[in-house]
Amino acid sequence: MPRPAKRRARRKPSPSRIAIAILAAGKGTRLKSRHPKVLHQVAGKALLEHVIAAAKRLAPARDIHAIIGHEAERVRQAVARTGVRFVLQARQRGTGHALLVARPALEPYRHVLVLSGDVPLIRPETLERLLAFHREQKAAMTILTAEVEDPTGYGRILRRRGDEVAAIVEQKSLRPAEAGIREINSGIYVFATQPLFAHLAKLTTENAHREYYLTDIAALLHAAREKVVALKAEAPEEILGINTRAELATLDAKLRRAKCDELMAAGVTIVRPETCLIDAQVRIGRDTVIEPFVQILGKSRVGSDCRIRSYSVLSDTELGNRVLVRPGCIVDGSRVGTGAVLGPYSHLRPGSEIGEEAHIGNFVETKMTRVGKGSKANHLSYLGDARIGAGVNIGAGTITCNYDGRQKHSTTIEDGAFIGSDATLIAPVRIGKRAYVGAGSSITGDVPADALAIARGRQVNKAGWVRKRRQAEAEAARKR
Ligand code: UD1
Ligand code: CA
Repeated sequence: MPRPAKRRARRKPSPSRIAIAILAAGKGTRLKSRHPKVLHQVAGKALLEHVIAAAKRLAPARDIHAIIGHEAERVRQAVARTGVRFVLQARQRGTGHALLVARPALEPYRHVLVLSGDVPLIRPETLERLLAFHREQKAAMTILTAEVEDPTGYGRILRRRGDEVAAIVEQKSLRPAEAGIREINSGIYVFATQPLFAHLAKLTTENAHREYYLTDIAALLHAAREKVVALKAEAPEEILGINTRAELATLDAKLRRAKCDELMAAGVTIVRPETCLIDAQVRIGRDTVIEPFVQILGKSRVGSDCRIRSYSVLSDTELGNRVLVRPGCIVDGSRVGTGAVLGPYSHLRPGSEIGEEAHIGNFVETKMTRVGKGSKANHLSYLGDARIGAGVNIGAGTITCNYDGRQKHSTTIEDGAFIGSDATLIAPVRIGKRAYVGAGSSITGDVPADALAIARGRQVNKAGWVRKRRQAEAEAARKR
């Protein structure tokens, strides 16, 4: 009989493991948004993604239960790849109701850590401290709190003696005597599951919002002689909740600044950090200089000794060392080799691979194109689906005509070729090594190595044509 027992053990979480419940079902009325609150972003990442990332540092994804409701499908899809589980709270009747709905998922665990989907700065270290304190106190409920200058909008902590708490009072239910309390409820708690669910069903909707407030459980447990304690967070900023767009902007600025500070501490110069947006995952090498108003997004990697000049936006892009990005470049999903020079105003679209020391100049657009070492396309070109060798010169205004209205075709330009200005290369086509293409040519067939291709109307000079026309016009005027 040992086998079925074993299988059951795998399905059910062991009672010593903790569950993490993330409250993420609310609508976020105060954001005045048509989109779910927890999908609004700070530092390039949805609020809920920040919270899940912190949760995953404490527990495996299978023990993390996100409670979703408003626009549940969109929220589920947005974070599905994190592997967390979902509980549907179809009607959002309050934070207490959210946990009631999640009861079947949470009850098998001995403890549950409750996080808020709209409190994104929480650090795993603080949650570890909270869990340790909860265990040490053998508490039924442990509340993470903070002492703040302006407690407006938050629930307030009514302490009894020492660490013990008698109740959490919501802003709208505050009595005059409680108005001075500056210790706020973060909305983050640890519960012993048994007393939590023994008392949770007693919550009522007798309050300003006609909702089941999870915060009321503190007074219920306290009255039932269960131990309720509070632990203050070291940095109050960690527990800032997002309820308005202004708070989103403030928090975003804080996180962006922290990223810039981290980079500067590691040897990157950022001339005006308050004007730059650099996503959390971005890595930048030493002595690189980031000028004002630059964005470096997604999984971008920038080497050392680069210079990114103003108004450039790099997304999911890798730059080697000593790359110069002149002002106004848009670079997306591309790789740029050491010593290359881009811009001003270059547009590198996904799949562009620019070789070492190559130059891509103003108003040059590239897409799915490889440009070899030291090659130059300095002005006004479109290079799409092209493989360009080393030491190639692409004249101003050169266009690869890669699209016939149905399919894309490729252009190959071999090492050392010289493409004259305003050439149109009608793909599929190959220009051989060291070949020349005359300016203004429309190239429809392959050009062999070392050949010169000219494909344009021949020039005709009509001697004296202008003089004759003027004489004819003068004669006509006399006759009138
Ligand atoms: C809550 C606390 C308050 C605390 C503050 C900290 C309550 C009653 N109040 O207030 O004491 O100071 O957080 O930020 O809990 N949610 C659901 N289902 C629902 C309702 C809400 O999942 O039915 C989710 C929301 O999506 C949100 C979280 O719970 O992520 C908190 O809800 P919210 O309405 O923002 O509570 P606050 O008014 O901020
Ligand atoms: Ca909130």
